[in-house]
Amino acid sequence: WTEVPPLKDAYTNDFLIGNITGSNRLSGDEFNLLKKHYNVATPENDFKPENLYGWGGRTLNFDNADRIERALSAAGIKLHGHTLVWHRQTPQWMNDGVTAVVAKANLEAHVTQVVTHFKGKVISWDVVNEAFNDGLSNGNDWRAALRKDVPWYQALNEGYIELAFRAARAADPDAMLYYNDYSLDNFAKASAVANMVEEINNKYKGEGHTRNLIDGVGMQGHYQTTWFNVNSVKTSLELFISKGVKVSISELDIRTADYKEGTSADTTMSASAQISQGKMYAQLFQMLKAHAANIERVTMWGIDDKNSWLSAGNPCLFTRDLKVKQAFYGVLDPEGFLDY
Ligand code: XIL
Repeated sequence: WTEVPPLKDAYTNDFLIGNITGSNRLSGDEFNLLKKHYNVATPENDFKPENLYGWGGRTLNFDNADRIERALSAAGIKLHGHTLVWHRQTPQWMNDGVTAVVAKANLEAHVTQVVTHFKGKVISWDVVNEAFNDGLSNGNDWRAALRKDVPWYQALNEGYIELAFRAARAADPDAMLYYNDYSLDNFAKASAVANMVEEINNKYKGEGHTRNLIDGVGMQGHYQTTWFNVNSVKTSLELFISKGVKVSISELDIRTADYKEGTSADTTMSASAQISQGKMYAQLFQMLKAHAANIERVTMWGIDDKNSWLSAGNPCLFTRDLKVKQAFYGVLDPEGFLDY
């Protein structure tokens, strides 16, 4: 691949720079790019409940997850865990058609066992993922803003969120605990999340704890070139910071409008489309750098356009044949890219 400097070195004084990995790609060119440019990784799918149990299975199997942990540790890459509690990629037996007592026991057993298994090996967890609705016009009442189609919610009401965080905190007091969601550039959705985080943290501190229960908010960051707006991201990011929590950008990609989840249409980007995408990455990283004191990690959701979950939208920093794109230079040197 082209000889370019490691991305992570451009951000050593700012935040960790991450990307995704998987148990089926722990060697080869993609893994070499991960080692060169990134200092933290998120397993794209292997840590999700459906993969830890095997669909339908009720016994945890950490073989693939452990292979990832060992490979990252050997490469000096930190590990972020994704995700403990979600309404997708989760076996139905955990929460569907069971009593509240059983759902609570399953949730606590899952969180406790998984976090304990990786105690000291995972720096931070997405404890709860995607609990809020889209298209909100106001986020004042966070309970009203919660997704009601989540099996955990149907079994346990909003209490499932706090239960999950408490179990994670008890299992590994040193890991950073995140609430993670998408479309948080929408201010109403961000407000609902911020209000929940504030209420749960105030309650926790009211019990005499000297730290937060929810340490941070993960803004996924699945953006599109046709509507990406750096100021909307900035406004929400500053709202979270004002609540006394850290922020991470947890799943960054900026796709073109040709995207479709799970397809791999072999499109290529024109030079001008690459430059305008590169500018958006540069605007975003320029803004993030200015907030670095409160940002822990910026993780991209895909190394190259071929292997991205939104492949047809060419959202990544590397092309299908692993060459750097304009977007790479936009991240490497935002100021320089925007000045040019
Ligand atoms: C996606 C993965 O990238 C795909 O491989 C998988 O088929 C579905 O999940 N929000 C999340 C991630 O929190 O877990 C999702 O990852 C992308 C959206």
